[in-house]
Amino acid sequence: MAEQKKLLRALAGETQDVPPIWMMRQAGRYLPEYRATRAEAGDFLSLCYNPELATEVTLQPIRRYGFDAAILFADILLVPQALGAELWFVTGEGPRLSTITTEADFAKLGPVSDIHETLNPIYETVRLLSSALPSETTLIGFAGAPWTVATYMIAGRGTPDQGPAHLLRQENNPLFEALLARITEATIEYLSMQIKAGAEVVKIFDSWAGSLRGEAFEKYALEPCRQITDALKERHPGIPVIGFPREAGDKYVGFAKATGVDCVALDNSVDPEWAAAHVQIDGCVQGNLASRHMVTGGQELVDDTRRIVKAFGNGPHIFNLGHGITPDADPDNVQRMIDAVRGG
Ligand code: CP3
Repeated sequence: MAEQKKLLRALAGETQDVPPIWMMRQAGRYLPEYRATRAEAGDFLSLCYNPELATEVTLQPIRRYGFDAAILFADILLVPQALGAELWFVTGEGPRLSTITTEADFAKLGPVSDIHETLNPIYETVRLLSSALPSETTLIGFAGAPWTVATYMIAGRGTPDQGPAHLLRQENNPLFEALLARITEATIEYLSMQIKAGAEVVKIFDSWAGSLRGEAFEKYALEPCRQITDALKERHPGIPVIGFPREAGDKYVGFAKATGVDCVALDNSVDPEWAAAHVQIDGCVQGNLASRHMVTGGQELVDDTRRIVKAFGNGPHIFNLGHGITPDADPDNVQRMIDAVRGG
């Protein structure tokens, strides 16, 4: 049967005159209606764990802009929390977690089988969304890639160079690998439950893949992504997977073939003409308008949008930003981008 939804058609390899479009962090602080619902929830984590309100914020950008996909409202750091790490958000600064640097810290984590107790509200959000979304809108579930999640669990916060995670990787490699294996296993179970609840596509966010080089990239970015994709495809045949090895540079080449993902998401730094020739030849790509255009706007926004649509026009493409939209973005610029994609 021919697939009707635009996003699923792109993921199945179809070239379309107008690509499907959605935006990373499309439910977020740049929208006044998001800020209002977040205030109602009290704080960010309470919003994530409240199925009705999380559904509401997921739907807000769909109502406002008619994107072709909705992404579940949650966070990649809910998995560490479900494994037993402490997690909190410091306003204006970002996430904080209890750190894992010793065997004793690792021993305090719970088994993978326990994660659903914490994550059940997220599956409920997915169920609510799958009945609330318009019939043409695809529901995307997601999780962080093991390396990226590990960088936060080891350092206890976001770090500019992922130094603490690299240090543990070098100085206590067995502990580092045990942590990665635990996250990988938890991620498979988490994404599998999202799919059972109604997610039609899943995306694996490896935001810090770019700090891994050479053999370390193969072992800790590519291999976990391959394991997760393999396991999901075995359990849920036909479910498309999007991989996002952010700032992987030339490692984007061959990433889809090596991992089995159906689509690779390209970051802000990737040249679209280069990626069309070297990455899109293997299948669908997603991206990659520089996120800052949502702040700066103007003719450059329109020109760059058109350039990306044109560069990827001869193959399967999902239009998106190269990273998440930032809180200082102008909601009108989002509409200008959509008009430039859909209106030519
Ligand atoms: O894209 C979406 O709209 C879906 C929801 C989503 C969020 N985070 C909501 C969120 C998704 C897919 C994520 C992924 C995520 N979370 C990543 C990977 C993608 C990326 O951006 O590289 C990472 C690294 C995180 C961890 C995280 N969550 C950080 C570092 C922060 C703080 C930085 C910031 O923007 O404030 C968050 C908080 C967060 N996650 C917010 C949202 C909407 C802002 C929280 C708020 O409302 O105060």
